[in-house]
Amino acid sequence: MKKHDIHQMYQDSVQCVEAEIDFVKSTYLAIRGNNARFLREDFCGTGQTAGEWVSRDEKNRAWAIDLDEEVLQWGQDNILSELVSGAHLTYVKADVRESGVANMDVVLAMNFSYFLFMDRTMMRDYFISVKSSLEATGVFFLDAFGGYEAAKELTEERECEGFTYIWEQATFNPINSQMQCYIHFKTDDGVEYNRAFSYYWRLWSLPEIQELLLEAGFSQVDVYWEGTDEKSGEGDGKFKAAKVGTADAGWICYIVALP
Ligand SMILES: C[S@@+](CC[C@H](N)C(=O)[O-])C[C@H]1O[C@@H](n2cnc3c(N)ncnc32)[C@H](O)[C@@H]1O
Repeated sequence: MKKHDIHQMYQDSVQCVEAEIDFVKSTYLAIRGNNARFLREDFCGTGQTAGEWVSRDEKNRAWAIDLDEEVLQWGQDNILSELVSGAHLTYVKADVRESGVANMDVVLAMNFSYFLFMDRTMMRDYFISVKSSLEATGVFFLDAFGGYEAAKELTEERECEGFTYIWEQATFNPINSQMQCYIHFKTDDGVEYNRAFSYYWRLWSLPEIQELLLEAGFSQVDVYWEGTDEKSGEGDGKFKAAKVGTADAGWICYIVALP
């Protein structure tokens, strides 16, 4: 890996774009009976997920949207430049609510980025704008996290190749559900990247998100819950539509909304 590069470390520790795109591709196919082609990755960061999409199939096209010039440039230098089908991925510097990228089969809002919208009006407006960017046969995919440890002030560490990933839930205000989170990295040769990434967001609950998607005009909203590996008792990476989840300390799930 490229050493001492926070975007590389973020990708290596936070994202698993192969599994994400497997889920998006197979779920779209199961719902619509054909393959999605046009995908928009909102809050794209480096655009790694959009890059994975276009690398899967010659016919696929992707648009990667973010506000931050620096992260978009990193994506163009390190992801776009490595793609054989680079012309099929377009980076757009814009607010996700007004990128103008429409007629999509799929819109993605992953890694909880939409939690940055702090009130119901802002969230509903974002969802309305996504709905108007989708084909009638399109699908909106989001992820969410929660569980009784999600609202706790805590720090967790995970060893990765060449560095330690540190997730900190620094503050949580139960009155408005707003929280300050950080990602720190510590490389194996001792360099610390304190607060490499910082997120001030609201911990939204699944009922709130589902209700807002329906209020925004989506006709069907399903939560896809992760199965449990019988041996380890941990998540098995297989997400299925469900009406009942498990009251785990920490969970992530997908939400799938149809216009
Ligand atoms: C949590 S990162 C997500 C990166 C990547 N999507 C992932 O799955 O890991 C959030 C990103 O959203 C971007 N962002 C925040 N508000 C935005 C907005 N209103 N419109 C577009 N991008 C936004 C930030 O610049 C940042 O790169």
